[in-house]
Amino acid sequence: MVKRGPEAGDMSSAGLSGPTSLAAVSLHTARLHIRELEPLDWPAVHRYAADPRVVEYLWWGPNSEADTRAFIEKARAERIRSPRLDFDFAVTTQPSEAVIGGCSLHARGRAEYRTCEIGYCFVPETWRHGYATETVAALLDFAFATAGLHRVFGLVDPDNGASARLLERLGLRREGHMRRDTLIRGAWRDSLIYATLAEEWTGRRATRP
Ligand SMILES: CC(C)(COP(=O)(O)OP(=O)(O)OC[C@H]1O[C@@H](n2cnc3c(N)ncnc32)[C@H](O)[C@@H]1OP(=O)(O)O)[C@@H](O)C(=O)NCCC(=O)NCCS
Repeated sequence: MVKRGPEAGDMSSAGLSGPTSLAAVSLHTARLHIRELEPLDWPAVHRYAADPRVVEYLWWGPNSEADTRAFIEKARAERIRSPRLDFDFAVTTQPSEAVIGGCSLHARGRAEYRTCEIGYCFVPETWRHGYATETVAALLDFAFATAGLHRVFGLVDPDNGASARLLERLGLRREGHMRRDTLIRGAWRDSLIYATLAEEWTGRRATRP
C-alpha cells in the first residue's frame, strides 16, 4: 500500500503536464521509503551503479564516480522541470534509511501518450527479499494514481530471468520480443517488453486482498 508524501502533488487528471508540482515525491511501503535523490546519496548509489553484477543487463555502467555524481545532478535538475518527464528515486529501507537501490520512470513518446519506461536496480546483497517487487508495485501505484500515466512498460534482457519474473509476478503482460534493439557495452541485445495500463493495474489492485 503506498502512502503518498504530503509534498507529492495529485496529477491524476492532468497527466505529466498538469499544474501541480511533482518535485518532491516520497512514497512509503511496508518496508521501504522511495524518495528523491540527494547529493549525499552518491556513495550509496555508486555502490550498486559501479557493480558489474548490477549492470550486466543494462545499457549503462559500470559507473565511474563522475558518472554517478552526474546522474544524481541530472535527476535533481529534472525535479524542477515542468512538465516533469523523468523520475529517478532512491529506495531505502525503513527505519534505517539505508539506500539499497534505485528506481525510475522515464517518459517515452509524445507527452499526451502519458507513457513511461520503468527501471529498477538493487544492491546484490538485498536481492531475493521481495524489495524489488515491493518497489515496483509502489512505483506503479504512483505512476497511475498520482502521475496520471496511461501506460508503463519495462524492457528486459531475455537472459535477465529475475527481472522478467518480477514483472510477471506483478501481472504485467509480456507484449513482445524485440530483436537487437539495445547496445550493451558494444554487443547488440534483444529485449522483452512487459507493460501494464492504468485501468488494468488499478483493476488488479482493487481485487487484491
Ligand atoms: C532485477 C532485480 C531488481 C530483481 O531483484 P529480486 O531480488 O529478484 O526481486 P525481489 O527483491 O522482488 O525478490 C523476488 C525473489 O525473492 C523471493 N522473495 C522472498 N521474499 C519475498 C517477499 N517478501 N516478497 C516477494 N518475493 C520474495 C521471491 O520468491 C523471488 O524469487 P524468484 O525470483 O526466485 O521467484 C535484481 O536482480 C537487480 O537489481 N538486478 C540488477 C539490475 C537489473 O537487472 N534491473 C532490471 C533491468 S530490466
